[in-house]
Amino acid sequence: MAKHLKLPALALSTLLAGVLAAQVQAHGNVTPQAVDTTGLTPLGAEWADTNPYRDPSPDFDRAVEIGASAYNQNCARCHGLEAISGGIAPDLRLLTPDFDGDEWFKYRVINGAVRDGAVYMPKMADTLSQEALWAIRTYLDTRHVEE
Ligand code: HEC
Repeated sequence: MAKHLKLPALALSTLLAGVLAAQVQAHGNVTPQAVDTTGLTPLGAEWADTNPYRDPSPDFDRAVEIGASAYNQNCARCHGLEAISGGIAPDLRLLTPDFDGDEWFKYRVINGAVRDGAVYMPKMADTLSQEALWAIRTYLDTRHVEE
């Protein structure tokens, strides 16, 4: 899991907090947008350990479609349009489309990222469903690039 983590140096993260605060202000409300997951197999309250919609799941195509739009509405302002990071937050194309990548993805969307009381990333799972988040993860699978 640690190999996906690119912790910036302390000075850099302080700078990042400033950039992020400005970014958040510029974009106003950061409340996640509701995602319509109609057509995807419902997953219940318990979190799956690995992406249930990954190819060859029958849900794959629909998940990519829903995930692309949900990503652009909820994650792109920090992680970049089409998952190409502008440097504010990690480039999510680097997450490997396997169990390790899933584990780290799940950890971050459930826990967010808070350091010294500053919210770098909100707890996305508080407002987006498990179905919506795995759909985003499925979309990210299709955007994967090797480092
Ligand atoms: C307000 C900005 C913001 C938003 C919105 C946001 N993130 Fe993040 N995210 C971050 C930052 C900053 C980090 C790096 C945190 C750290 O390293 O402490 C991060 C880290 C991550 C990581 C870990 C990546 C890695 O390489 O370590 C994942 C996965 C992730 N975010 C997924 C998402 C998803 C999915 C969404 C949308 C549902 C989202 N994020 C929305 C700012 C954001």
